[in-house]
Amino acid sequence: MKKAAAKKQASPIDARPFTYRNRTLHCDSVSLAALAAEYATPLYVYSAQQIAYRFQLFQQAFASRPHTVCYAVKANSSLAILRLLGKQGAGFDIVSGGELERVRKAHKPALKKVVFSGVGKQAWEIDAALKAGILQFNVESEMELDLLAARAESLGIRARFALRVNPDVFAETHPYISTGLSEHKFGIDIKAARAIYRRAAKSKWLEPYGVSVHIGSQIRKVDPFAAALERVTALVAQLRRDGHDIRAIDAGGGLGIDYSDAPFDAAHQVERYAAALAKGLADEKAHLLLEPGRFLVAQAGALLTRVLVVKKNGRKTFVITDAAMNDLIRPALYHAHHEIVPVRQSSGKSITADIVGPVCESGDFFARDRAIAAVKPGDLVALLDAGAYGMSLSSNYNSRPRPAEVLVEGTKAKLIRRRETVRDQLAPELL
Ligand code: LLP
Repeated sequence: MKKAAAKKQASPIDARPFTYRNRTLHCDSVSLAALAAEYATPLYVYSAQQIAYRFQLFQQAFASRPHTVCYAVKANSSLAILRLLGKQGAGFDIVSGGELERVRKAHKPALKKVVFSGVGKQAWEIDAALKAGILQFNVESEMELDLLAARAESLGIRARFALRVNPDVFAETHPYISTGLSEHKFGIDIKAARAIYRRAAKSKWLEPYGVSVHIGSQIRKVDPFAAALERVTALVAQLRRDGHDIRAIDAGGGLGIDYSDAPFDAAHQVERYAAALAKGLADEKAHLLLEPGRFLVAQAGALLTRVLVVKKNGRKTFVITDAAMNDLIRPALYHAHHEIVPVRQSSGKSITADIVGPVCESGDFFARDRAIAAVKPGDLVALLDAGAYGMSLSSNYNSRPRPAEVLVEGTKAKLIRRRETVRDQLAPELL
């Protein structure tokens, strides 16, 4: 594989951990063929080493300023991955009461490093987060601020909050995952923020603690991050002049990766990102909160699947796999590209095919008109860079059990989620 060879030079740890050894695809030193034999398919496989490495890249790039990397749980909310990151010192960015419970279960000491984002928090979620003593609520509307004040008062717990401001900055990414323009539902108009902090400061239950921003996801250029932070930094200076003791700036997440098979130097990407944020922050010394999701886990994971059928309809060839859009929805939802590679390398010629799942929808595809090794039924293929927004966006559509998940730690593989059964699926239903 071109990618694997190129990766080797990029950094001491391959920027992507899936490489061929003896013509068989491995995750670190574990063979994917062996994993499929043991745990069946479809199977999500993640490299623990890669996730820890990515987290440490962030730690190093921001080492010169006080900061907390709050991993965005939604990217991959597996308890084992949360525990791994929690033990490395990560905080967490959550968007629901469910994610809060995941953090509590995975690594309880990290609760005090949790930031709570999301446009529609409910009273029960706010209560649970207040009781857990989280670091900061990222508030997205005046109504939410009123609810937060009311819940804080009724529990007798003061709430540290940041307004998530909308900086009206354009981040070139897919429209579904761009969030920083005034036409989006996210955040509060940056121009309205001062008045809202002034009003909030009157409540003894609300502590104006930070300002937060998040402009979108899978952003490859770093200039939009600098532009957004510049606006936030100016606001923070103004808020301080207004008498608020603003301690934290939350820069959100969004740093993108390369889903193609081009070489990827993860360390360099994080350094570029850190430099852009430093530019936006100028002399500002506030505690910096970061919410990366995809960058930490995407390239650490692959979805392993077996070819069920190869068939021709007219001029087209279809490779039908046992994984489907319910297991990995990114291609169907965003026309996202994932590299698809055979687990056993062969010297045979390649074919051009649509790689699709068995779900009853034409939108159930992983790739269209893709050149791929000539695979046959029974062969294994891997969808690469599937560690983020793969399993966490999976569903039971077509009443399909969701995949199992395995975490590779060096030479060992650990089952971190067993395969769902049909019985699991039927359990909550009443007749
Ligand atoms: N912080 C907030 C407030 C967010 O909304 C998100 C992602 C993140 C942090 C993490 O962003 P990241 O570093 O992962 O880009 N399902 C889509 C991505 C949706 C992103 C939603 N928000 C995909 O598969 O591309």
